[in-house]
Amino acid sequence: MMSKSVNVDYRALRDSYNGLYMANCGYDKARANQSLSNGDSDLVAFGVPFLANPDLVYRYQQNLALNDADSDTFYGGTEHGYTDYPFFGQKMT
Ligand SMILES: Cc1cc2nc3c(=O)[nH]c(=O)nc-3n(C[C@H](O)[C@H](O)[C@H](O)COP(=O)(O)O)c2cc1C
Repeated sequence: MMSKSVNVDYRALRDSYNGLYMANCGYDKARANQSLSNGDSDLVAFGVPFLANPDLVYRYQQNLALNDADSDTFYGGTEHGYTDYPFFGQKMT
């Protein structure tokens, strides 16, 4: 998966807020685990990976390959590209 990189001091951001800090944007499993173990975040949200993988948690738990997201179907106004990505082992319809 493509990982976005932005010039942000995540430690400074985390330290400036006393509540639970949820990180988001460009995280995959490895980057999320790193952020959690560094203490840079308390939890991590996944957007596009979840959109393309309805069984994302299972795939991460089992270290399975992910479906690639098709950005051409983002914001399309129909269920296509939102609810029709296959679960692991299913064929794309
Ligand atoms: C197709 C699409 C639809 C989204 N819809 C919403 C939404 O309705 N509300 C929202 O707060 N964020 C929405 N987002 C943003 C995601 O929740 C998330 O913040 C963003 O994709 C960055 O996280 P990621 O790199 O894990 O995808 C949407 C993103 C995409 C690609």
